[in-house]
Amino acid sequence: MTHAPGGDHLWRSGRIVPSAEATVHVRSVGHASVSAVFEGVNAYRDDSGGLNVFRLEEHLTRLADSVRLSHLTMSYTVDELCAATVELLRRNEVRDDVHIRPWAFVEGNPIEQMVPAGAGCEVVIDCWPFRSRLAEPVSRIAAVTSWRRVASESMPPRIKAFANYHNGRLGNIDAQSRGADWPIFLDDRGRVTESSGATIGLVRDGVFHTPGLDCGILEGVTRDTVLRLLRDELDVPVREHDLTRADLHLADEVMFIGTSAEVLPITVLDGTRAADGVIGPVTTALREEYAAVLRGRRPRYKHWLTPVWVAEPAGR
Ligand SMILES: Cc1ncc(COP(=O)(O)O)c(C=O)c1O
Repeated sequence: MTHAPGGDHLWRSGRIVPSAEATVHVRSVGHASVSAVFEGVNAYRDDSGGLNVFRLEEHLTRLADSVRLSHLTMSYTVDELCAATVELLRRNEVRDDVHIRPWAFVEGNPIEQMVPAGAGCEVVIDCWPFRSRLAEPVSRIAAVTSWRRVASESMPPRIKAFANYHNGRLGNIDAQSRGADWPIFLDDRGRVTESSGATIGLVRDGVFHTPGLDCGILEGVTRDTVLRLLRDELDVPVREHDLTRADLHLADEVMFIGTSAEVLPITVLDGTRAADGVIGPVTTALREEYAAVLRGRRPRYKHWLTPVWVAEPAGR
């Protein structure tokens, strides 16, 4: 990432500030995750050297939903936060693929973790370089973790609360202790839910399957993108329904899906070869189509792209 002269900046509650000056008191629990919520969004460079944020409005709408379900009060609209994101990327002179983290936490340095309903929040937007893997033949090793996904009746994974990632982290540690990259969580009834930072999808006999939103997973923006591309561009039937661990093992193709994961094939599952250990044809086609949309090569999906720079300035 290239930074503007004067160093890198972030957006904090209405102002762009040098990141070194964006501090909070060490005692503040508002900042320390108890009720903080966040988003993960990517911007991608297009073929003419422009930069576009992918599905920014959907991500910031989900942030607003997370704020609401956490019983916080945010004084910025989705439109204002979209404009703030673009302003930040321009100020930081970001020209290449970048990951953006908008987040909201209780303002005013509270020391009591049971912050009252309706507490106001600060919003910060930060960004750092992102490396897309869509053009590389990479795959991941997955393991079903013995930790269960936190129940939506207890702490809904449907919203993106930092606190939920304690469950995710335990799954990661468990999966990694067994030589895997990322976990797959079942719920308390043995249904497949999601990974610690991605949705799960599989293909069997030419049909794409993914857990329904009613099993308590995050309402993934990439999940929605992928379902539309499969149905409308790749002519692959899609089904959203309960899946079991056996379905994962019987699949022809299994994959992680998410903003950071993009579409990432799983070739080893629970220590055995998944999907014959190769990247399958639906996964390959989906990765290509997803990349084409992100890079601005599909006019039909231009409404998903928020331009930061329209084209590379002359002489760069
Ligand atoms: C737990 C979890 N599930 C699913 C996803 C995928 O969501 P999205 O596609 O909106 O990035 C993420 C992404 O951050 C996640 O953290």
